[in-house]
Amino acid sequence: MEGCMVRLRSVHFRGALSAQPIIVNFHELFQTRDAPTILPMIKNEDVLRAVVALLDTSLPEIGPRDVHETVHYPGIHTIILSQDHADVLKDYRGRASQKETNLSPVPCKTRVEADSTHKLLAELYSDSEESAEETSEEIIATETSISWSWERFCEGLQEFVDRARDRKEKRAVQREDGKIPPSAVGVESLIVAAACYELKILSTGDMVLQLSLLAVRKRYRHLGIGSYIMELLKTQSIVGKYDTLVAHADTDAIGFFKFHGLTDDPLLNDQFKELKDDWTNSILMSYLPPFTTDLEMRNPVFSLSLREVEMDMDVARSQALFAYQQQVMCVTKLLEEVKILRKQLDLQREEVDRLNSKLEQEKRKRHDIENKFLMYRLKNTKELLDHIASDSEQEQAKPGTQEQETAQSEEPPIQTPEGAGV
Ligand SMILES: CC(C)(COP(=O)(O)OP(=O)(O)OC[C@H]1O[C@@H](n2cnc3c(N)ncnc32)[C@H](O)[C@@H]1OP(=O)(O)O)[C@@H](O)C(=O)NCCC(=O)NCCS
Repeated sequence: MEGCMVRLRSVHFRGALSAQPIIVNFHELFQTRDAPTILPMIKNEDVLRAVVALLDTSLPEIGPRDVHETVHYPGIHTIILSQDHADVLKDYRGRASQKETNLSPVPCKTRVEADSTHKLLAELYSDSEESAEETSEEIIATETSISWSWERFCEGLQEFVDRARDRKEKRAVQREDGKIPPSAVGVESLIVAAACYELKILSTGDMVLQLSLLAVRKRYRHLGIGSYIMELLKTQSIVGKYDTLVAHADTDAIGFFKFHGLTDDPLLNDQFKELKDDWTNSILMSYLPPFTTDLEMRNPVFSLSLREVEMDMDVARSQALFAYQQQVMCVTKLLEEVKILRKQLDLQREEVDRLNSKLEQEKRKRHDIENKFLMYRLKNTKELLDHIASDSEQEQAKPGTQEQETAQSEEPPIQTPEGAGV
């Protein structure tokens, strides 16, 4: 896509809704002097505010400031689907002519949130209005701002919301008589859907189309508008050439993206992890386009060649082979490791058995020694007792008292003529 804005052909959706897709690079647009207006008679700044309001209301987890940063980020393209002013007016007038009892306001899914900017923006897309209105024509001069910022976004926001509120009130007042003036239809009524995407080159060299935000106004959902935007993103002749489409899918919208061929396979999507952001409640999903995209189909000299397919198959085969070899190497090493560990275990078991039997032997030896020792002590004790018993028997067998014994022992032996002592 060249330039900061591209208008595509109007599209008809289910329910006879007709909308024109416009692809805008807001960052470039705001840096361009005398930039063209995105929507007739509406300031480009207000279109940006309305787009941020729609995205912020539909994806409240992100926060208005981050939504604004994304929409205005260099390189980001925003797909805007807007209805024709006359169609919206006709629609309002048609609804106004119905009885009030026929009005079926779509309940507002706004969150109670401290963020005042979010509250202001949510007011634009509460989708709770059912109106018949009328106002004065507002011709707004085209303005381009050279340095756009969040501060500038907020500066004019209150006034923008006040004007939208006025329009809503006028539509409500005029509902009675069915006269809704064209000026009661503002940019917030025209925009039905918006999506932000960016072409990025990954560190691997792969070109990725990153879809960061996508929202369809609540009352226009299930008419095929989201699907149209997905088809647009798959049309490389419009959005540019890429290898993979990666989406930050809100968890509630995973089914929608699966319906459009995106996968949430975590292993496959791991290669895009450098695109991961801090937004809550969102996961990365990816879509791989076929080898032959619309770009090739549009080429008059294009002929279906299987060369690219074969080259990709070769790469896949060699990568699969490499992965297989790595796995086999790893498993083989693990098996060897198990064998070594088992051998060590067997050796340790043998050693434990050997030590156990030695312990048993030692226990037996010790038991024998203790027995012998006891026997020895028993024998000694018995001998001692025997000895004491025989001594006392001898004592009893001798005549006289101990004194006599003592005296006898102290008296010198009587010498007999034979010279022998008695
Ligand atoms: C998700 C979203 C963009 C779909 O837009 P839409 O215009 O309603 O989608 P379509 O009408 O093309 O839906 C086509 C089919 O997709 C499926 N689908 C649509 N929304 C779905 C969802 N939220 N979950 C699961 N499947 C969904 C349905 O099968 C639908 O067919 P049906 O209408 O016959 O039932 C819209 O619901 C939306 O803005 N949601 C809030 C914001 C959001 O979640 N954005 C996406 C993440 S960034």
